[in-house]
Amino acid sequence: MRTRTQIGIVGAGPAGLLLSHLLTQRGIDSVLIENRSRAYCEARQRAGVLEDGSVAVLRTAGLADRLDQEGIEHGGIYLQFAGERRHIDFRALTGRTVTVYAQTEVVKDLIARRLADAGEGAIQFSVTGTAVTGLESDEPVLHYTSQDGVRYEVTCDAIAGCDGFHGMCRPAIPAGVQSAVERDYPYAWLGILADVPPSTDELIYAHHPRGFALHSLRGPTVSRLYLQVDPDEDIGGWPDDRIWAELSERFALPGWELKPGPVLDKSITPMRSFVSAPMRYGRLFLAGDAAHIVPPTGAKGLNLALADVAHLAPALADLVHGKPDRADAYSATCLDRVWRSTHFSWWMTTMLHRTPGADEMEAQLQLSQLRYVTSSRAAATSLAENYTGLPLT
Ligand code: FAD
Ligand code: PHB
Repeated sequence: MRTRTQIGIVGAGPAGLLLSHLLTQRGIDSVLIENRSRAYCEARQRAGVLEDGSVAVLRTAGLADRLDQEGIEHGGIYLQFAGERRHIDFRALTGRTVTVYAQTEVVKDLIARRLADAGEGAIQFSVTGTAVTGLESDEPVLHYTSQDGVRYEVTCDAIAGCDGFHGMCRPAIPAGVQSAVERDYPYAWLGILADVPPSTDELIYAHHPRGFALHSLRGPTVSRLYLQVDPDEDIGGWPDDRIWAELSERFALPGWELKPGPVLDKSITPMRSFVSAPMRYGRLFLAGDAAHIVPPTGAKGLNLALADVAHLAPALADLVHGKPDRADAYSATCLDRVWRSTHFSWWMTTMLHRTPGADEMEAQLQLSQLRYVTSSRAAATSLAENYTGLPLT
C-alpha cells in the first residue's frame, strides 16, 4: 500500500513519541512505527531522572499533568566514598533541581496522548521489515509491514531515525559518510527494581573498593538500585540475597540501613560512550540513542533524547515549509550538548567506578577527585550545573 505523510518516524521511544507530538502541535503530519508491542515499550525499565530543562519541554508541550503530580523534585545527590556520605546541594549551588520520574511513565504519558489526539492508528506497533530508502532525494520512503501483514511504502518529506542504538536508520547511511567515536567500559550495571520504600531521600552514588553502587527510586514505595559488575557477568549468578548483601556492603554507613524487599525486575546493562556525526544524512535525521549513547552514571541518555527532538521538531516544520536553515543547523546544535553530556557522563563514570586492574595511583586520584568535588564550591557547582543540565539553546 502506497501512502504519503510529511515526516516518517522510526521508533516509539521517548524521542520518536515526543517528536510526533511536537510536530502535530505545529500542524505537521507524521507516521510513527515501532517494532515492539505497546506493552513492551511501556514496561521497559530504563532511566529515572529528568533535568529541569526536560521537565520544561514536557510542560510546554502540555504533557506534564501526571509528571507534575507524581514526579519527585530532588535538590541534590549524595556522593559516598571512604566511609563518608556527602551532599551536593544543586538548589543552593545552581538554583536548579532534577525530577525523579521514570522513563516508563514518560513513555506511557506520551503514548496515551498520541492515541488520544490522533486515534488508535497514530502509532503502528509490532511492525516488521522496517527500511528507509531515497534518503538523498527530497522524497525519502519509509517501508514497513504492519501487524496485520500489509506492506506499506510511505513517501515523506523527511525521516526521523529515533530507533535507538540497535536500530536500522544509522546503518542505512552509506559507509564512510559518518564518523563514529566509541568507548566501551570494563564494567556493567546490574539494575534491580524493588518493592520497598527507598532508604534515602535523595540518590546515593557510592564509590567503594568492591565497585560502584547507586541507590535511586521510582516513588515512595519502589526503589531502583544498581551495582557495578563485570561486563560478562551472568545474571543467573546473582540471586536476590546476593544482590542485597552486596548493596548493603557498598552503601554501609554507621547508623544507616538499607531496607531490602522483593525484587520485581533485574537486568544487566553494558556501559558505552558513542557519538556518531553528523546526526543527518540527506533527508534522514537521527535523534536520541540512534545517534549517541552515554553510560548512565550522569543520568543523561533520556534527557539528550528529549533535547534532540525539541530542536528537531521546529527544524523539520521549517524544512517542510521550504526553510532549510534550522534543519541544516540541527546536527551542530545538538552535538554541542551531546559532547558536553558525553564528557560529564565519562567523568562521573570514571570517578565513581572501580577500574579492574587499576593501580594505587588511579585509586588515589579517584579519591582525591571525590574529596575535591565534595569540598570545593567551584568543583561542586560544576557537577551540579552539568547534572541539572544545560539550558536549551
Ligand atoms: P529508545 O528508547 O531506545 O527507543 C528506540 C525505539 O525504537 C525502541 O522502542 C525500539 O524498539 C524501536 N526500534 C528499534 N529498531 C526499530 C525498527 N527497525 N523499526 C521500528 N522501531 C524500531 N538513561 C539514563 O539517563 N539513565 C538510566 O538509568 C538509563 N538506563 C538505561 C538502561 C538500559 C537497559 C538502556 C538500553 C538504556 C538506559 N538509559 C538510561 C538510556 C535511556 O533509556 C535512553 O537514552 C533513551 O531510551 C533514549 O531514547 P530513544 O527514544 O532515543 O531510544
Ligand atoms: C535511575 O533511576 O534509573 C537512574 C538514576 C540516576 C542515574 C542512572 C539511573 O545516574
